[in-house]
Amino acid sequence: MSICFDKVASSYLFLEKALFGSSLQQMRCSHLSHIENSKKILLIGEGCGFFLRKLLEVNQEAMITVVEPSERMVKQAKSRVPDHDRQRVLFCKVPFEEFLPQVQFNAACTCFLWDCFEENQIMKLLPKVLDCLESGGVFINVDFTETRSSEGRKFKISHFLLLRMLYGFFRFTTGIESTRVTEIKPMAESNGFYVMDTRCHEKLPILSEVFRRKNFERCP
Ligand SMILES: C[S@@+](CC[C@H](N)C(=O)[O-])C[C@H]1O[C@@H](n2cnc3c(N)ncnc32)[C@H](O)[C@@H]1O
Repeated sequence: MSICFDKVASSYLFLEKALFGSSLQQMRCSHLSHIENSKKILLIGEGCGFFLRKLLEVNQEAMITVVEPSERMVKQAKSRVPDHDRQRVLFCKVPFEEFLPQVQFNAACTCFLWDCFEENQIMKLLPKVLDCLESGGVFINVDFTETRSSEGRKFKISHFLLLRMLYGFFRFTTGIESTRVTEIKPMAESNGFYVMDTRCHEKLPILSEVFRRKNFERCP
């Protein structure tokens, strides 16, 4: 079954605010300083464009490519782009699997994307992210986590239940088949990235990680 977020696009913002207040957006934006001077940025699975809007404010020069397959999500994201920024945002309405990059990017960002995929799918897609980045390029990933909590706190049963509820909802509404969040860090490391910075949300099981692409080619 293929994933389709069209059904949830119109209620996504309402649900996010109702369940998490401003926490998801805080985490999306917690590492923006790493890409405020990047000139070519790739956003994969950007959804309604909350992160895009903030990125356009913080970085006023970057050319931004958004890869997002959901027609309705793209419509919403486009509506969040101010008129004066239209020329520097390119929307590609395809799954990332089908995306054909025309340039090498300085930075790539994924927010709450990989939790929609099973480990074997991520193993195929993550190397493609690496291939889209130039040597030294930055990769920011923000997502839920099943294993990490902020320092000194244990991963709680309430976090476990929250994630199961979210998975139940998105399985029903979008057709995702994944049932748990896969840790990206080990896969990113084995694909030529190293970790530069990590932040956990104080109360919620959300992790923001910044990786940099090593300055050598990945082995075929
Ligand atoms: C859980 S939503 C996250 C949206 C947004 N990034 C956020 O932070 O809220 C996952 C997004 O990934 C998109 N998506 C699903 N499959 C995808 C694929 N194969 N390639 C790129 N994006 C995809 C969905 O359409 C949806 O907008």
